[in-house]
Amino acid sequence: MSGIVLEGITKRYPGGVEAVSGVSLDVEEGEFVTLVGPSGCGKTTTLRTIAGFEDVTEGIVGISGERMNGVPPDKRDIGMVFQDFALFPHKTVAENIAYGLEVRDREKEYIESRVEEMLELVELPETADREPDQLSGGQQQRIALARALAPEPDVLLLDEPLASLDKKLRETMQVELRRIQQQLGITTLLVTHNQKEALTMSDRVVVMNDGRFEQVGAPEEVYSDPASPFVADFVGTANLFEGTVSSVEDGVAAVECGPATLNSTDCADIEPGTDVTVVFRPEHLSLGDGAVATDGAGGPGTVFDGTVSVRRYVGDQIEYHVDVAGDETVIAAQRVEETNARVGDSVNLQVPATNCLLLNQ
Ligand SMILES: Nc1ncnc2c1ncn2[C@@H]1O[C@H](COP(=O)(O)OP(=O)(O)O)[C@@H](O)[C@H]1O
Ligand SMILES: [Mg+2]
Repeated sequence: MSGIVLEGITKRYPGGVEAVSGVSLDVEEGEFVTLVGPSGCGKTTTLRTIAGFEDVTEGIVGISGERMNGVPPDKRDIGMVFQDFALFPHKTVAENIAYGLEVRDREKEYIESRVEEMLELVELPETADREPDQLSGGQQQRIALARALAPEPDVLLLDEPLASLDKKLRETMQVELRRIQQQLGITTLLVTHNQKEALTMSDRVVVMNDGRFEQVGAPEEVYSDPASPFVADFVGTANLFEGTVSSVEDGVAAVECGPATLNSTDCADIEPGTDVTVVFRPEHLSLGDGAVATDGAGGPGTVFDGTVSVRRYVGDQIEYHVDVAGDETVIAAQRVEETNARVGDSVNLQVPATNCLLLNQ
């Protein structure tokens, strides 16, 4: 069993900063899990406690079913890749990949064949004799990955490995990395601040905020059923309005918010008088002719009247920012063929009650 287990991990640095506050996680064998959150939320610290570069203040770290507290990094069966690659500059590519095998005293013949195998895996066999500065950024990152994987670690830890690559190369490497991970079936924990990267690459996503795990779930789950206003806002684009529930009738809650009374069917266990955050995604809004939206099961939706203040063409979609009552702005995404509204136009926005989520504040 080559999984990772975190049980109630807290990390306080000398000086008193509590970077990680009582987090728990089970990464299963072969799983690809991504830790995502804003800068400074504790992602790197979490990863470094798993690698053994930091001791935990409280809690238990387990790798492959064994307790790792107090075990030094070189005695943990991990491979690690960092944002800055950290290749040895005066060693060739082959020597870089061989390094982890040499410190483990593997036989020369085995090392040679393993280096060749790793170069095949990352599709760079022709670079064996070059030094890192003769490689592009993307190639260096592949070699860093090959070096981490060469000793056949039980788990792979990746700290923002693609952050310094430009967008196109980053997307290519995301696909590459996932291909290699699946081919090897290696248990992987990736750290990134890029929510799109987290959603597209992972079996499960951990959304981290201020030292805590706000939500752990499949990408679809984190996106469509966020556990908190923070998650809704951080993952994808969301409209969030705070308000108070004024009534709950026939499975529809009415929430008094600044710009409108918002209707939501997400109201099991919600009492009138409760303060909530209403969340809805731009793609669930339609820029319409003002007819009240209905969604069959859920009763009436919500209609906003407003004025287009921003129109952004983003390829297959147009993103509209619509100024509505109460000095608020609603973001709506429309397919190009759905509307040709322009900046300054008066429009109606409709959102079905079934697409409005209610979150506790
Ligand atoms: N060695 C350290 N000593 C003291 N504080 C640190 C140290 N490393 C990180 N921190 C603090 O811990 C918090 C989390 O940092 P980090 O884990 O690097 O976050 P992230 O990787 O999500 O950006 C930040 O407030 C950071 O300033
Ligand atoms: Mg970091």
